[in-house]
Amino acid sequence: MIRKARVEDIKIINEFGSKLITDFPKKYHLEDYIKNSSYIILVNDTDNRVNAFLIVYQNYDFYELEVIFVSEMDRGHGIASNLMEFFINNYVKEGESIILEVAVNNLNALNLYKKFNFEIINKRQKYYQDTDAYVMKKVK
Ligand SMILES: CC(C)(COP(=O)(O)OP(=O)(O)OC[C@H]1O[C@@H](n2cnc3c(N)ncnc32)[C@H](O)[C@@H]1OP(=O)(O)O)[C@@H](O)C(=O)NCCC(=O)NCCS
Repeated sequence: MIRKARVEDIKIINEFGSKLITDFPKKYHLEDYIKNSSYIILVNDTDNRVNAFLIVYQNYDFYELEVIFVSEMDRGHGIASNLMEFFINNYVKEGESIILEVAVNNLNALNLYKKFNFEIINKRQKYYQDTDAYVMKKVK
């Protein structure tokens, strides 16, 4: 089941996020985000076990996909696709854009975004320490 994140989900989201981003809990103030209508935090909850999340920031006239994460043991079963589809169907209106950055070597994520028709619009050199990033965009 996909649903909005609640305060009690913060611990597991921080745990997952820390596997991906150093200092995740310091960079992403989830307690504030949950109360802030500019942030959309969705989780996938299977039998009371949160195994994936997505964070989006609504930036004036476009959406920024900040993070999408699926627990390692649950990957490859369409969970990220379901989260993405749920977000696009329920929050994004026709003509609105979603922007994201992704490390050029993160092939799983790149494939996921390409599946949803995101297009590369820019490349940022050494955006993640030593790794370049693509900026990708989709217009619904
Ligand atoms: C990227 C990630 C979110 C994908 O989650 P997932 O639930 O495994 O993805 P899905 O099963 O929905 O697959 C969606 C698409 O991603 C791509 N993909 C997923 N796993 C892949 C793999 N092991 N190899 C190649 N492509 C892969 C495929 O194109 C797939 O499309 P398909 O359904 O037509 O095969 C997951 O690997 C993850 O959490 N990675 C670590 C966090 C991360 O890097 N997030 C992105 C940057 S914030």
